[in-house]
Amino acid sequence: MTSDEVTELLTEAYIDELETVMNYLTNAIVLDGVHAEEVKASLEADVEEELEHARLLGNRLKQLDHSPPGSESFEAQQSSLQPPEDTTDVQSVIDGVLEAEDNATKRYRSLLEAAREADDPVTEDVAVTILADEAAHHTEFRGFKKEFPQE
Ligand SMILES: [Fe+2]
Repeated sequence: MTSDEVTELLTEAYIDELETVMNYLTNAIVLDGVHAEEVKASLEADVEEELEHARLLGNRLKQLDHSPPGSESFEAQQSSLQPPEDTTDVQSVIDGVLEAEDNATKRYRSLLEAAREADDPVTEDVAVTILADEAAHHTEFRGFKKEFPQE
């Protein structure tokens, strides 16, 4: 058995991953300039991973006899990941990614905790798997940030 808290967190995380897919894809398309190429390639690769996260979460909801939500449940949250007006402003996208990955990490830690309390080891495993990917993304973008002068 699992708890309502677990299914709520799975649902929120599913929506968040799909919003991340949209924003990473958009930024991978729009950025320009010499600093942009590595970041664009990384975002492009992360789109696939974030989509896989949504798939894992949706399948876990289905196993728990819940449906993942459709787009009518969607409320946009990621204001810091909107495409920059200045398309060479790679740094703002890097900062947006770091914020998104921090928020995702917090959410998966909460999911892990809730799943543990609910004695739901399968969801715990999903949370740990995704946490490891988000940590890798965070490290990569922290590295990109080092190329830019400190504010
Ligand atoms: Fe993710």
